[in-house]
Amino acid sequence: MGEKILIDTDPGIDDAFAILYALKSPDFDVLGLTSIYGNASIEQTTHNARALVDMGGQACPVAQGAADPLTIERRAFPVMVHGEDGFGGFSPAQIKAPLVQGSAAGFIIDTLRAHPGEVTLVPIGPLTNIALALQQAPDIAQLAKGVSIMGGAVNVNGNVTPAAEANIYDDPEAAEIVFGAPWTVTMLGLDATHQVPLTRANVARIEADGGMNGRFLAAAAVQYFDFHAEVVGLDFCHFHDPSALIALCRPDLFTRQPSSVRVVCEGFAAGKTIAKPIQRFTAQPGWDERARVEVCIDADGAGVINHYLEVMTA
Ligand code: RIB
Ligand code: CA
Repeated sequence: MGEKILIDTDPGIDDAFAILYALKSPDFDVLGLTSIYGNASIEQTTHNARALVDMGGQACPVAQGAADPLTIERRAFPVMVHGEDGFGGFSPAQIKAPLVQGSAAGFIIDTLRAHPGEVTLVPIGPLTNIALALQQAPDIAQLAKGVSIMGGAVNVNGNVTPAAEANIYDDPEAAEIVFGAPWTVTMLGLDATHQVPLTRANVARIEADGGMNGRFLAAAAVQYFDFHAEVVGLDFCHFHDPSALIALCRPDLFTRQPSSVRVVCEGFAAGKTIAKPIQRFTAQPGWDERARVEVCIDADGAGVINHYLEVMTA
């Protein structure tokens, strides 16, 4: 069996690429999905998470998470990136995968307590559910094997504001709680994902050789490519969410900088992640006492894509 993981997700086109990969890869044992608002409403992202479980063909529980950030007003959904339905118009109407009783935060707590030291959390949406779980049960920080977060931007601009990456911008206060907890966090932000370009040719291969799920991903990706072409000016997509998973099973493809990370919670830089390399001096308190975060600052983009294609076309 592969590494036990729990994915907290706001599907989302790149979330779909990540989850169908995780469900197919022998490197992972997906113990569940928890949904979060973000790329669409909580009702839509929960529906989409259940649809992905159907497509993955595994009995993987789904728990519904928060509809809003901890305290701030929810930001607008990025319909120009992921479409009204989060899947570029291709969200299936019918779903079968059941929804578990209780909240996502409760499901996270129960799962970590049931498998102490064995489960890695993989949040690939806003961090509200993870912060709620920490607030309700601070002991989970010692119980998780680790946390691999898609989010943040350290040495590069953000993607929703000049300062902030989308998942952190959606709930900066939650992110500050998660980066500050005493657990082992890997931060897979834009510094790394901007070095992982997914091309239309890559997706054509997934469509041709990846079966029904490959055809679904190719259809949903049309909207994602159109956004990158028309708004960002790129003829490829940044491969965000799958990279947080691939960092776990192929650590050789990423360069890490051990750091402490803090999040700007207010003002025009809200959602900015600031990293201090742990060996660097600071005269300011509040940094060195924080948990160590492995910030991925470089990626072997071709290596990441080749690995993904190998799994999805096997
Ligand atoms: O910034 C990229 C992140 O924002 C990804 O998780 C994507 O799904 C969007 O939510
Ligand atoms: Ca996401």
